[in-house]
Amino acid sequence: MDNVIVAKNLSLAYSNEETILNQCNFTIGSGEFVFITGASGSGKSTLLKSMYGELPVYSGHLGVAGVELFNISSKNLNFLRRHIGIVFQDYKLIPEWDIEKNVMLPLIIAGYANDISQTQVQKLLSHVKLGHQIGKMPLELSGGEQQRVAMARALAHNPILILADEPTGNLDNYSAGLIWHLLEGANEQLKTTVVVVTHHIPETFGVPYRHLHIESGNIHEIA
Ligand SMILES: Nc1ncnc2c1ncn2[C@@H]1O[C@H](COP(=O)(O)OP(=O)(O)O)[C@@H](O)[C@H]1O
Ligand SMILES: [Mg+2]
Repeated sequence: MDNVIVAKNLSLAYSNEETILNQCNFTIGSGEFVFITGASGSGKSTLLKSMYGELPVYSGHLGVAGVELFNISSKNLNFLRRHIGIVFQDYKLIPEWDIEKNVMLPLIIAGYANDISQTQVQKLLSHVKLGHQIGKMPLELSGGEQQRVAMARALAHNPILILADEPTGNLDNYSAGLIWHLLEGANEQLKTTVVVVTHHIPETFGVPYRHLHIESGNIHEIA
């Protein structure tokens, strides 16, 4: 099994005064499903941000999909982001765009022709149980529905890695269940590697998973 994520002596910081994560070592293999937990403020979002290059690596090494993130060039960062799907707690949809165009965003970035995208986008919206909402704007939907749009967007370009930061934090039970189910499906059927930061791991979860926990600037495996 190849590793999709390799952290070696990885330290993360927002300033020189304080490291949030301190010399962390871990790997995440291709096709694994990994939950990351930790107290509020422990550095979960910080770690995820480093994985998609939103926060530069302070010291050490972080490889994602074979790309080194320490001192990464913007060209390599663009390449990397084309292979990652991201789901945020607050959806981060573009409010001026209808939901189809929001889902299409990764395909537009990847340069696919419009006609291919249309068909694919309608399939994706049906997949997240929003076929009946096609044509709507994000703010015409409930929070749960908006997160399902974000989930469709994260899947659109068939990423090798999905990163999700408390994706069900603000959702009703139905949409939360659906998001978990969609993440399980991506992992099980498409073999997508999935890394999810969460406060609470669902009691029954449909695929085998690992559990990493962040505490006092360190990350460790929970058996
Ligand atoms: N943009 C930022 N600038 C400076 N400090 C930050 C920033 N974002 C987060 N932090 C600090 O980093 C620490 C970890 O934050 P975060 O990763 O968001 O925690 P978590 O997601 O585990 O709740 C906190 O002490 C927080 O205040
Ligand atoms: Mg957070």
